[in-house]
Amino acid sequence: MDAPGTQEYDRMQELMAFDKTEAGVKGLVDAGLQNIPKIFVRPAEELAEDLNHKRAQIEVPVIDLGGLDKADRRKQIAEEVRTASEAWGFFQVVNHGIPLNVLDEMLDGIQKFSEQDVEEKKKYYTRDNMRRVRFNSNYDLFRSRTANWRDTLTISFSDPDKSDSMEFPDSCRESAVEYSKHVEKLGNILFEILSEALGLDSEHLRNMKCSKGHRIHCHYYPACPEPELTLGITKHTDPGFLTIVLQNQIGLQIFFQNQWVDVRPIPGGLVINIGDLLQMVSNGKFRSNIHRVLVDRLTPRISVACFFSGPLGMESISYGPIKELTSEENPPIYKEVLLSDYLMKFMTSGLLENYLLNYFKA
Ligand code: OGA
Ligand code: NI
Repeated sequence: MDAPGTQEYDRMQELMAFDKTEAGVKGLVDAGLQNIPKIFVRPAEELAEDLNHKRAQIEVPVIDLGGLDKADRRKQIAEEVRTASEAWGFFQVVNHGIPLNVLDEMLDGIQKFSEQDVEEKKKYYTRDNMRRVRFNSNYDLFRSRTANWRDTLTISFSDPDKSDSMEFPDSCRESAVEYSKHVEKLGNILFEILSEALGLDSEHLRNMKCSKGHRIHCHYYPACPEPELTLGITKHTDPGFLTIVLQNQIGLQIFFQNQWVDVRPIPGGLVINIGDLLQMVSNGKFRSNIHRVLVDRLTPRISVACFFSGPLGMESISYGPIKELTSEENPPIYKEVLLSDYLMKFMTSGLLENYLLNYFKA
């Protein structure tokens, strides 16, 4: 047995050595390794616990956004969004208005970025969250229990976005700019429908600045020689209000009724999920659900998760349960919190489940 502390010490050394390569998980795979390094191996009790959960054969709700301009259809859509947001906290959308080529080009751009010469990628490798464009592997590498089999390129977009895109990598500059424009528009539409689904004025969530600014996290999950020992993303809930996910293949799973449910990609479809902040402002009506990502032995997976987490750089804004959604019988179950405090707490922790919600209970 290791003397107390030695194991942690070794782990820290390994993490630092891995980080120093600036080549990410893709760098390990390119080096041809057959066994995954220990820093990526999930603890035995976690692997054992997984055996308790079946892999369910049910499907996440799919909502057709076509016909939003017709009052009747819009009502029906808001109703579908309400049901899915209450029960699952997840749904997929089709006919969402983002052209297929914009989605495909975004995925292609990320593939090009991820599979290009490593020296080119290293130019972007940083853990400085103030940087608008940043590439790294495991944003929480030094805080998490187990490292994830994933590299990520993150780009922040403020609103209105006046900065230019010259600092973006060539491989995905145009596709990311184009995708961002479209996803922002879709985000605004979704916040309108979510407001309606909560029985509020269409503009309510937008007026709270939920859709002001977004970040796109472009994930690359390399093929993994031992996929059963690790995860692409540890189980977690998303901290922001809303996430829009574009994915090129299976891997994403959500925890529903004590089982893991695969979120199968639909051609041209997008996955939408409720984050902790939306669960909070809806006073628990909408659910921020637990999800994770599995990796595959043979095929790399690419996904683009767009987070709407409130206005970037607006320190003074605070969020709490919406007054209209609380009453004497239904008192606020969460405290009001400064967005800057909340995001700071999130950044200094690892990926967790309903982090804000546990921390800021009333
Ligand atoms: C995330 C996430 C899912 C995916 O980035 O928070 O859950 O499919 N991503 O990559
Ligand atoms: Ni997530």
